Amino acid sequence: MNLNLKLVVIAALLLVAEVASQDRSPQTNPPPSSSPTPNPRENYVGDDACRSCHQDKVETFHRTAHYLTSRLPDKDSILGNFNADANVLKTSNPDLYFRMEAEAKNGGFFQTAVQGQPPYTTSRTERFGLVVGSGGKGQTFLFWKADLLFQLPVSYWKEIGWVNSPGYRDGVAYFDRPVIPRCLECHGTYFQSLAPPQNRYSQTGFVVGITCEKCHGPGRAHVQRFNSKSAEASPGSAILNPTRFSRDRQMDLCAWCHAGHGEPLLATFSYVPGEPLEKYIELPQPDPEAPVDVHGSQVELLKRSRCFQSSTMTCLTCHDVHATQKDPAAFSVYCLQCHKAESHPKIEQPIVNNCVDCHMPKQKTNLIVFNWNGRKVSPEVRNHWIKVYPNTSAPAPEERNEKP
Ligand code: HEC
Ligand code: HEC
Ligand code: HEC
Ligand code: HEC
Ligand code: HEC
Ligand code: HEC
Ligand code: HEC
Repeated sequence: MNLNLKLVVIAALLLVAEVASQDRSPQTNPPPSSSPTPNPRENYVGDDACRSCHQDKVETFHRTAHYLTSRLPDKDSILGNFNADANVLKTSNPDLYFRMEAEAKNGGFFQTAVQGQPPYTTSRTERFGLVVGSGGKGQTFLFWKADLLFQLPVSYWKEIGWVNSPGYRDGVAYFDRPVIPRCLECHGTYFQSLAPPQNRYSQTGFVVGITCEKCHGPGRAHVQRFNSKSAEASPGSAILNPTRFSRDRQMDLCAWCHAGHGEPLLATFSYVPGEPLEKYIELPQPDPEAPVDVHGSQVELLKRSRCFQSSTMTCLTCHDVHATQKDPAAFSVYCLQCHKAESHPKIEQPIVNNCVDCHMPKQKTNLIVFNWNGRKVSPEVRNHWIKVYPNTSAPAPEERNEKP
C-alpha cells in the first residue's frame, strides 16, 4: 500500500481544511464595527468569578472533558509517561526515535527527535507549550516558536501511550505543522490572534479549556448585577441561558464544535452563542445519503435520526454539560421520556438499561488513525444516529468497563 495512504489523520476534515486554508488570505480579526456582535474581551471575567455564587457548577464542570480539553503542561495535565523505561517512542525508521523528558529543576517538559546512529546523531528538542485533549481518548501537544504555535510530532493515546501524532508519517521528524485558529476555537476559550501568519498568537492573551463564558457569553455585567444591592431591582440576568434559545440556536451552540471543521466566514473566536452560526462558519453539508464518520459529527448524525426529526429533541435532551456523564446505562431514562419499554418489539435480550448499546453503538472512526507499530489504530466513538442497527447487543453489566 502506498505510504501516503497509511498516513494518519486526526480528522481528515481537519487536514483538508488546513490545506485549504493555506490557500486563502491569512485570517485577521475584522474591525469591531464590521463584526455583527462586537465582543470585547474585557467583558469576560473567567470561571473564578462565577465560583462565589455557582460553586457546585464550577466544581463539577471543572472535571469535565470540556474544561480539561486544553491545559498548560504540568505533571498532571500531560498523561504520557516520562519515566526512563517508558519515555522513548521508536519509529519504523531505525535512524529516528523520540525521547520525552521532564526537567525537574525548571519544571519544563520536552520532546527530542534523535536522528542517525551514535556517535553521529543530530537532535532537535522542543518544549511542550500546550496540551490539547482531555485524555479520555488522547492528547496532542503544541509548542511555541516565538509567538508561532506548532504541533509536536509525538502525541499520547490512552490505549497505547506515546504515538506518532495523528496525521504524521511514521519515521519522519516533522515539527512544521502550524496550529490553525479553528483548532483552538474548538479546544479552548480564546486565543488572541496576531496573524499573519495564521498560527501567530499572543503568548499571554489566551484562555485554555472551555470555560463558562464560552457558552454563556461575557459575564461581567451579570457578576456586577448580582454583586450589587440593586440586583432585585433590575430585570433580567444579563447573561445568556441557552435554555431560552430557539431549538436551532441550541443546536448551533453544540454545532459550533460538534458538526465538523467547516470554513470560517468571520473571524475565529467572534461567535457568541445565541447568534446564527451559519453567519460565522460554513459547516460541511454532507449528502444525506453519504456516510458520516462518527468522530466530531454528533450534530449531523443526530439530525438523521427519526427521534430528532419527529420531536423537539436537542443535544440538551440527554446531555448536561456541567457534569461528567460516563455511564451509558444511565441514558435510558432520556429515551424513556418518549418511548415505552413495554411497547418495545419483542427481542431475546433484556432492554431496559441498555437502550444506547443497541441503538447508539460505539463504532471505530476512520478519521483518527494512528500509524503505530505497523498497525493502524483508531478509537471508537458513540454513533449519534439513533436507529435499529443489525447485530447489536447489550453487554451484561459485569462486562461493562466504561463506568468511571
Ligand atoms: C454574585 C453572585 C453571582 C455570580 C458571581 C455569578 N452569578 Fe450567575 N447567577 C446568580 C444568580 C443569583 C442567578 C439567578 C438569577 C435568576 O434566576 O434570574 C444566576 C443565574 C445565572 C444563569 C442563568 C441565567 C438565566 O437568565 O436564566 C447563568 C447562565 C449564570 N448565572 C452564569 C454565571 C456565570 C457564567 C458566572 C461567572 C462568569 C456567574 N453566573 C457568576 C448569581 C451570580
Ligand atoms: C458547553 C457549554 C456550557 C458551558 C461551558 C457551561 N454551560 Fe452553563 N449552561 C449551558 C446550557 C446548554 C444550559 C441550559 C441547559 C442546562 O441547564 O443544562 C446552561 C445553564 C446554566 C445555568 C442555568 C441553569 C441552572 O442549572 O441553574 C447556570 C447557572 C449555568 N449554566 C452556569 C454555568 C457555569 C457557572 C459554568 C462554568 C462553570 C457553565 N455554566 C458552563 C451550557 C454551558
Ligand atoms: C467550544 C467548542 C465546544 C462547544 C461549544 C461544545 N463542545 Fe462538546 N466537546 C468539545 C470538545 C473539544 C470535546 C472533546 C474534549 C476532550 O475530550 O478533550 C467535547 C466533548 C463533549 C462530550 C464528551 C464528554 C466526555 O466526557 O467525553 C459531550 C457529551 C459534549 N462535548 C457535548 C456537548 C454539547 C451537548 C454541547 C452543546 C451544549 C457542546 N458539547 C458544546 C467542544 C465543544
Ligand atoms: C470543529 C471542532 C474541532 C476542531 C477544529 C478540532 N477538534 Fe479535536 N475534537 C473535537 C471534538 C468535538 C472532539 C471529541 C468528540 C469526538 O471525538 O467526536 C475532539 C477530540 C480531540 C482529541 C481527543 C480528546 C480525548 O481525549 O478524547 C484530541 C487530542 C484532539 N481533538 C486534538 C485536536 C487538535 C490538535 C486540533 C487542531 C490541530 C483539533 N483537535 C481540531 C473538536 C475539534
Ligand atoms: C424527545 C423524544 C425522544 C427521545 C428522547 C428519544 N426518542 Fe426515539 N424516537 C422518537 C420519535 C418521535 C420517533 C419516531 C417515531 C415514529 O416516527 O414513529 C423515534 C424513533 C426511534 C427509533 C426508530 C428509529 C428508526 O429509524 O426507525 C428508535 C430505535 C429509537 N427512537 C430509539 C431511541 C433511543 C434508544 C433513545 C434514547 C437514546 C431515544 N429513542 C430517545 C422520540 C424520541
Ligand atoms: C438521545 C440521547 C442523546 C442525545 C440527544 C445526544 N447524545 Fe451525545 N451521547 C449520548 C450517549 C448515550 C453517549 C455515550 C456516553 C458514554 O458512553 O460515555 C453520548 C456521548 C457523546 C459524546 C462523546 C462521544 C464519544 O464516544 O466519545 C459527545 C461528544 C456527544 N455525546 C455530543 C453530543 C452532541 C453534540 C449532541 C447534539 C448534536 C448529542 N450528543 C446528543 C446520548 C445522546
Ligand atoms: C439488545 C438490543 C436492544 C436493546 C437493549 C434495545 N433495543 Fe430497541 N430495538 C432493538 C431491535 C433489534 C429493534 C428492531 C426490532 C424489530 O423491528 O423487530 C428495536 C426497535 C426499537 C424501536 C423501534 C420500534 C418500532 O416499532 O419501529 C424503538 C423506538 C426502540 N427499539 C427503543 C428502545 C429503547 C427506548 C430501549 C431502551 C429502553 C431499547 N430500544 C433497547 C434492539 C434493542
